[in-house]
Amino acid sequence: MDQEELLSRLNWFYSLELTQVDNYLAQSRAVDDPYVATGLERVASMEKGHADKISDLVIGSGGQPTRVGDVLSPILGAALGKFLGATDVATMLKTNIKIEAKAVTDYQKLIRELESDGYDPALLKSLQQNLVDEDLHSSWFAQVINGLPDRSWPLSPVLAQGDWPEPPLK
Ligand SMILES: [Fe+2]
Ligand SMILES: [Fe+2]
Repeated sequence: MDQEELLSRLNWFYSLELTQVDNYLAQSRAVDDPYVATGLERVASMEKGHADKISDLVIGSGGQPTRVGDVLSPILGAALGKFLGATDVATMLKTNIKIEAKAVTDYQKLIRELESDGYDPALLKSLQQNLVDEDLHSSWFAQVINGLPDRSWPLSPVLAQGDWPEPPLK
């Protein structure tokens, strides 16, 4: 992958991460439930960390961090406002999972391409860390959706009582 292509791909993630910061902060303010609102605020903070990291990677690769246009509409198939305008918390979180899934898929694709090109392991590690964080976000959103009917938070005491599948025999 040439440098121009790498910078263009990184700037797409930079834009997505910054959009996610705005998105989750707006959701945090809109949600009444204090536990969910605080969680969204924390996720927004992690997305800011991702944007800062990608910004460093762009600069380190000789580029300028640049926010490209609307990155969410192509993922959602419609403007984000349509999803956030008149939706309940579960629908909002399901939309978030869809966006996180796109981020994870695209991080994975970029990591694989850079791996086969023998890129700097530190760059790959940063992208891998972002990818895992996005899975953490999706997992939390999914558990919150499950807990919404009876507001079963905090989640960990409930999860600790869960039935876990037996590990397969080796
Ligand atoms: Fe992120
Ligand atoms: Fe995320």
